[in-house]
Amino acid sequence: MSNIKRTYITTPIYYPNANLHVGHAYTTTLADVLARFRKLEGKEVFFITGSDEHGQKLFDKAKEANQEVFTYVTNIVENFKNLWKKLDIKYDLFIRTTDEIHKSNVQKVFQSLYEKGLIYKGIYSGFYCKSDESYFTEKQLKEHKCPECGKDVEKFEEESFFLKVSAFKEWISNTLKNDDILFPHFRVNELMNNFIDDLEDLSISRKNFTWGIKVPNDDNYVIYVWFDALLNYLSTFNYPESPFALSDWNKDDTEIVQFLGKEIIRFHAIYWPIILKEVDLKMPKLLAHGWLVVDGQKMSKSIGNVVDPIEIIDTFGSDALRFYLVKNISFGNDGKFSIEGLIDNFNGILVNKYSNLINRTFSMNAKYFNKIVPNASISMNQTILLDKELNEIQNEILLKMEKYNFNSYVDLVINYLDKLNLYIDQTTPWLEKDENKLKEIIWYLVNRIYSITLLLNPLIPQKTNLVLDIFEKEHSFKNLFINISNFELETSLILFERIKNDE
Ligand code: MSP
Repeated sequence: MSNIKRTYITTPIYYPNANLHVGHAYTTTLADVLARFRKLEGKEVFFITGSDEHGQKLFDKAKEANQEVFTYVTNIVENFKNLWKKLDIKYDLFIRTTDEIHKSNVQKVFQSLYEKGLIYKGIYSGFYCKSDESYFTEKQLKEHKCPECGKDVEKFEEESFFLKVSAFKEWISNTLKNDDILFPHFRVNELMNNFIDDLEDLSISRKNFTWGIKVPNDDNYVIYVWFDALLNYLSTFNYPESPFALSDWNKDDTEIVQFLGKEIIRFHAIYWPIILKEVDLKMPKLLAHGWLVVDGQKMSKSIGNVVDPIEIIDTFGSDALRFYLVKNISFGNDGKFSIEGLIDNFNGILVNKYSNLINRTFSMNAKYFNKIVPNASISMNQTILLDKELNEIQNEILLKMEKYNFNSYVDLVINYLDKLNLYIDQTTPWLEKDENKLKEIIWYLVNRIYSITLLLNPLIPQKTNLVLDIFEKEHSFKNLFINISNFELETSLILFERIKNDE
């Protein structure tokens, strides 16, 4: 990671056809955790999210609601932004595909691929799923329904522009098999069997339909919503908020990390890499997570089993939701969402292991040292041993996050907390008669509470920022080992209070 200077992080841009649920919050939380982590490592970060506002589905939805499409989506987009604020998602740019900057970029890319002969006109004949905004061949359908969402598909035939992708079949198949671009790697096999073996050129326009970006020089067509949406990841560099230029994309010291849910792997791991190759850009890391499921079914607006993240945040706080999502779902696999699980997680870890540790330490510091953190150094065997272990854990956390291993990161953090709690139990400061030893224990605890708080900060920024601000205004992993002493602390600090689970 040392050679990486800048990190570009994206989430899928969500459809504003309804408010977002906890599943969307999961993707965006992962991205935010990585963004915060990289910033603490001292990397320059550009983190974007946004809304995918064109397409037939949104057009029909707005019509049903008797509203102008733009007015309809704008209201929902406001709710997206409100959710991200409440969830402490600190993006640098929120891109809307109705933004002029994006629209003109999409047209520019379309035109340049057309001029290169990579886009051509032909006749599309096949099936379309409005809900997923995707095309399918007859063979790909499952019992005449959409193989992704199980809904009805529409058969049609129309003149269309096509993107040459079939010519890249060999290349994409080798890239996915041999390069580390799609995580987890087992998804590659599914793609091979279902889509790559029969890869056909992609229709990238729609006729007789106006809610989209116009094909340059041909007003009869709008650009297919997925081609439009994927290009948001490049349009962002044209915004004044962008700290990077598109020319940074290919640099060796630029890391590109794109989060997505498993149902849109097909677009991100086949068409998107091919588009990137066609415009001479290097491959990103595609991190595809599984679904949040409720009673065995994908949490989804159309199934009607969604959990509103705003309600969860209002009841339990944003840290509780963020921590639960990252800890509870094993990255890449589906994970169950339950309120009981969230409460157990919160009480068992954030309250018992973290908040209580801080409060105990602050109150011992007040009791034994009149609130002033003593100055000491490491000399006791227990401290020497623990310090070695904690150093290892810290390094391990940094290594795990180089590989986007969120679950190991959380497990290591919990391990760290367990070790610090055990240190109190083993050194029994309340029985210690030797003043120097007592100083060492309390000093060490305060210092390592600071370190663990820094390490926890990307996961639970709200409450950890309160703790970090007590000590140091500049939050950075380079401060993991700063010496905190001769410093006045409050008598007590209760960050998280136990949630009573009456049910
Ligand atoms: N607009 C497209 C994405 C275009 S990106 C160039 C789209 N939007 S969406 O609103 O349907 O959002 C899909 C994404 O939301 C998933 O890829 C995933 O990140 C997230 N999730 C939606 N439901 C989810 C779960 N039940 N569980 C986890 N994530 C979920 O597709």
